[in-house]
Amino acid sequence: MKAENNCIVIFGASGDLTHRKLIPALYNLYKIGRLTENFSVLGVARSELNDETFREKMRQALIKHEKANGDMLEKFCSHLYYQPINTSDAQDYGKLVPRIDELHDKYQTCGNTLYYMSTPPSLYGVIPECLATHGLNTEEYGWKRIIVEKPFGYDLKTAHALDIQIHRFFEEHQIYRIDHYLGKETVQNLLVLRFSNGLFEPLWNRNYIEYVEITGAESIGVEDRGGYYDGSGAMRDMFQNHLLQVLAMVAMEPPAIINANSMRDEVAKVLHCLHPLTQEDLKNNLVLGQYVKAEINGETVAGYLQEKGVPEDSNTETYMALRCEIDNWRWAGVPFYVRTGKRLPVRVTEVVIHFKTTPHPVFSKSAPENKLIIRIQPDEGISMRFGLKKPGAGFESKEVSMDFRYADLASPSLLTAYERLLLDAMKGDATLFARTDAVHACWKFVQPILDYKAERGRVYEYEAGTWGPTEADKLIAKAGRVWRKPSGAMKKKV
Ligand code: BG6
Repeated sequence: MKAENNCIVIFGASGDLTHRKLIPALYNLYKIGRLTENFSVLGVARSELNDETFREKMRQALIKHEKANGDMLEKFCSHLYYQPINTSDAQDYGKLVPRIDELHDKYQTCGNTLYYMSTPPSLYGVIPECLATHGLNTEEYGWKRIIVEKPFGYDLKTAHALDIQIHRFFEEHQIYRIDHYLGKETVQNLLVLRFSNGLFEPLWNRNYIEYVEITGAESIGVEDRGGYYDGSGAMRDMFQNHLLQVLAMVAMEPPAIINANSMRDEVAKVLHCLHPLTQEDLKNNLVLGQYVKAEINGETVAGYLQEKGVPEDSNTETYMALRCEIDNWRWAGVPFYVRTGKRLPVRVTEVVIHFKTTPHPVFSKSAPENKLIIRIQPDEGISMRFGLKKPGAGFESKEVSMDFRYADLASPSLLTAYERLLLDAMKGDATLFARTDAVHACWKFVQPILDYKAERGRVYEYEAGTWGPTEADKLIAKAGRVWRKPSGAMKKKV
């Protein structure tokens, strides 16, 4: 299905996200025919660009990131426009009114407008109010939707305040809070895997599942985002949003039907069931880490404290591991081990469902483990691990696997997360966007962790290129378990 005709207004148009992700995503949607000719993009920022200079910047970005060229590139760029304004000055938004009107007329977009806030978070409360000053939020003529980039707040209190601010000018059905993990094909596939196969659902509960591991590992450091990252840390940057959303997809109940409300009802319900963490729980079940300088493949890699924009005495965590539980009928007593970090040996996001072993090991001292590994990225796929007989005499078992890889599909071309989510927003489908109650539930769960860290959370060192602090191994070892070390790991030379 194609996007509805509309004008996309991007605030923060001279920023990194616009030229690295948003414009490439729109270009690709256009290329595959998911955007009609009736669309326009109005870039808005403080920089003094005009339509031509903005087009040229975007053209260069598309050539660089998408290897775009030829007619398609020129046709796409002809839909791009630019208006400089001071984004924190309500009066200046008056300049947008004739521009947007003109674009609606030219492209017959019936007043449909999608606003994208790709700005510093300090403007998330300001922009809706400034738009409202000029009536640019009302739906009398066409729909008006607003996409909010993460972070939705800094903690429970600020998230709540931000929500109130935006809700003063936009109703919940107009607000699209983007979490790009929900746009990932394999995250969505978790739902199809679970709810359209009779095979898994009967096993998907405390009776058959021993524990669940969720890993969001990155091999890169903080790159040139030290300034932003230092105020955020792994907890706010990855855990509070992306990984809790993945956890919700693993743990939620089946929705009665797939639509935005029933799906998001189930997501919110399961997030509300996360067992509230006491300071004592956190002492035993949380490990924070920060990477230090090391050599990876013969090259010296800077430690976090040497990264640009990071204060030399920073206590920000670049790694976290947490054991948590979900207090409901399906999951009572099943530990969820969640970890994420920068500068780990390999980039991989995966969910591992560890099934219980047979009640009595008939063939060897320990029964083989049964695992379902859902690889979210890269090399998207699903792998089922179980034991079979080693050929030859006796009845010794060994682990074998049955693997599905997306790359093996006849037409594996997947929409990227931003392509999928922008398209959905233009179609008015909010299923894969975070609803206010789910965001609130995530912050409510995370707030005690933030408090604990502020008061007494110790941040352990780990060498860049390793799997995090040894304390994280001890955390999972308390139950006699070990973290999975996903393959593809770079060998660390000392
Ligand atoms: C972003 C974080 O939201 O997600 C980054 O701000 C992180 O720090 C990125 O690197 C990870 O996304 P992906 O899609 O590369 O896993």
